[in-house]
Amino acid sequence: MKVLMVCLGNICRSPVAEGILRHKAAEQNLPIVVDSAGTSDYHCGECPDQRSMKSAKSFGIDISDLKARQFSVDDFDRFDLILVMDTSNYSNVLKMARNEEDRAKVKMILDYSHPGKNMSVPDPYFGGEHGFTNVFNLLDRACDAIIEQYLKESRKEKQ
Ligand code: 4NP
Repeated sequence: MKVLMVCLGNICRSPVAEGILRHKAAEQNLPIVVDSAGTSDYHCGECPDQRSMKSAKSFGIDISDLKARQFSVDDFDRFDLILVMDTSNYSNVLKMARNEEDRAKVKMILDYSHPGKNMSVPDPYFGGEHGFTNVFNLLDRACDAIIEQYLKESRKEKQ
């Protein structure tokens, strides 16, 4: 399974989501490929925000080698699942979808941990460190639920 995490800048939330899911998949030896992108080009080529790197590191996850890039229409072909952080990312990505197949790949990431609530991962960029810890905890729970769902589906496919 190939998963793309998407936020606005690709420096705060989606690199953390990428790092967490990759870490959990590796721990369980699961063939899940993870990448991330931003809907904007504001920070292309930059490392994750210092506060994101610090908060991920405090939970044992190193995201310092990631580089921001912009989401492009080819990503619909390259990924099975496109997980957005908030409703604004959702509408920006959907605007680029070419057909129903593209649209079906796009999901709000917190729908995994908080189904039916349409919850967003709050943008921590203009806030303090607490916002980054909150983002980490929300994404950690969501990634647990993504792995759970993945395992459930792969068991079903085997039957
Ligand atoms: P992200 O956070 O979308 O989680 O990477 C942001 C990063 C930069 C900006 C906004 C949000 N910005 O306006 O530059």
